[in-house]
Amino acid sequence: MKWDRKGLLSIEQFDREDFDLVLRLAGALEPYSGIFEAPDSYFTRHPLDLCEGRILVTAFFEDSTRTRGSFQTAMLRLGGQVSPFSFVGSSKGKGESDIDTLRMLTSYSDILAVRHPLDRSVPDFAAVLDKPVINCGDGKKQHPTQTILDLYTISRFRESVDGQRIMFIGDLKYGRTVHSLAIALRNYNGIEVIGVCPVGLEMPEEFKQGINYSEVPLDDMGELSQVAGDRKPNVVYATRVQKERFQGDAERFMYTITPETMEAFLADAILMHPLPRPAKSDQEGRGLTNPATWDIDTEVDADPRAVYFKQASFGVPTRMAEIALMLTHYDGVVNVNLSEFMDMHGLNRALLDYGK
Ligand code: NCD
Repeated sequence: MKWDRKGLLSIEQFDREDFDLVLRLAGALEPYSGIFEAPDSYFTRHPLDLCEGRILVTAFFEDSTRTRGSFQTAMLRLGGQVSPFSFVGSSKGKGESDIDTLRMLTSYSDILAVRHPLDRSVPDFAAVLDKPVINCGDGKKQHPTQTILDLYTISRFRESVDGQRIMFIGDLKYGRTVHSLAIALRNYNGIEVIGVCPVGLEMPEEFKQGINYSEVPLDDMGELSQVAGDRKPNVVYATRVQKERFQGDAERFMYTITPETMEAFLADAILMHPLPRPAKSDQEGRGLTNPATWDIDTEVDADPRAVYFKQASFGVPTRMAEIALMLTHYDGVVNVNLSEFMDMHGLNRALLDYGK
């Protein structure tokens, strides 16, 4: 065990035992997370009070739907409360610094979920804040809680993370989700990672270390099907071109996985994506109208291998596990024995094998 549970700031804080602990607890909490069930089922009959009386503040200096939304729901499902901080109308408008804003928010919360556009900013903030901080994405560096839900998704659909041949597609230079995931995969056995990216968006060296990584930069992303057919990944992880993180024309790097591309993937492969997938034009996608999209064509959604919406839902149980482990540490629970943890919180031990 390496993770001190005082903060969740970078994926290097985790060793294999820590990943196993969080993923197993997330599995046990999944029936309480309400992600796939009708409102009158398990989780409403057995509401949790693990975080009763505790407040989570979400402080997002950058846009977010899934990370912010699932952290809020995770805390509510644990019986805690949420104070979503809104920068619109705050004293940021009077020129207050980000760190002064966060200092104030520690007084209003027990735990903070923070996203920020600058590289390594969230660990730096956490070092001077006196409440536990969760890094919800810092610039192009890391997104550790996304990695935990990604590992959970792979182990749910492919039984184990060990032994997978994983293909990263898209913006490997600026995409923080693939950076964190690449680091996490150092802890797993028999992993092969193949990066397929437009020339110019290759993975930085620091993230290639410690894994069996090969890269196929393409001048024409239309050749993706051919590479996929040759390399036969079990897990395909597509990412968005992070156009907000660089100057110049981003559109020349963009690509789309279509039903035809899917034909090149193995029948039992899974297709993941951290989302969002952007619209091709400036249409807004109001109502049920889904405009044509980059990264993954909406027609692919009906393919059973397309698991990205389920992947995003797994943000709730995995973030429940993270918050629960951090706040129990705050209460002085240093070593976690999961069976005792379940007993302590009135949870059914049998749920530790949920999803197995
Ligand atoms: C990702 C992010 O913010 O890094 N989104 C997410 O949290 N699910 C991916 C992205 O924005 O492309």
